[in-house]
Amino acid sequence: MIASGDFMFPEIRIEWLTGTMRGAAVQQATKTLRDLAGIFHDADSLHSMDKSTVVYRVQWAEPVVQGTEGGLFWGSTIIQPGRVGDEYFMTHGHFHAKRDRGEYYGAIGGKGLLVIMDEDRIIRTETILSGSLHYIAGGLAHRVVNTGDDPLLFWACWPSDAGHDYASIKTRGVGARVVLRDGGPAVIPV
Ligand code: PA5
Ligand code: MN
Repeated sequence: MIASGDFMFPEIRIEWLTGTMRGAAVQQATKTLRDLAGIFHDADSLHSMDKSTVVYRVQWAEPVVQGTEGGLFWGSTIIQPGRVGDEYFMTHGHFHAKRDRGEYYGAIGGKGLLVIMDEDRIIRTETILSGSLHYIAGGLAHRVVNTGDDPLLFWACWPSDAGHDYASIKTRGVGARVVLRDGGPAVIPV
């Protein structure tokens, strides 16, 4: 028997180079400086900035219900260039709620750092540049920082039962910050 129809999931088109996803099933979230209050350390600099400034936007698709074991989600993130004081624009960062779930990030353009932190708050960074592929093992918090002058774009694929634990990062932060020092990015412990 041959089942009819071209797609199991409502049709989606991706534009690899712009990070754009199109289709009825595509979801989108935009994070502004207002949404990220408390994530950047320089509250005085943040105070003088336009809170509606977009820091990053995510598009993604969920072909199965969140929490389904064995499924995969797919999405893109575009982080704008910029800083709050000396700290570069970045994603909120999270552990996966199900700690053993991993993820792939694959970068298309821009440059930055993937900041990874384990449960003991040991930090590691990987350089993100066009074409870099990053495997984020389970149990590791992850955040992406745009250290360049252009938007930073990457695609991601993660398990549908991973979930996002943002609260741990909101409460304790990440153990390092990426700041402008002597004309370039520096990773400093906090
Ligand atoms: O699943 C992921 O790890 C990514 O799609 C992120 O959710 C995305 O990059 C945005 O980061 P955050 O979820 O930390 O706001
Ligand atoms: Mn993740």
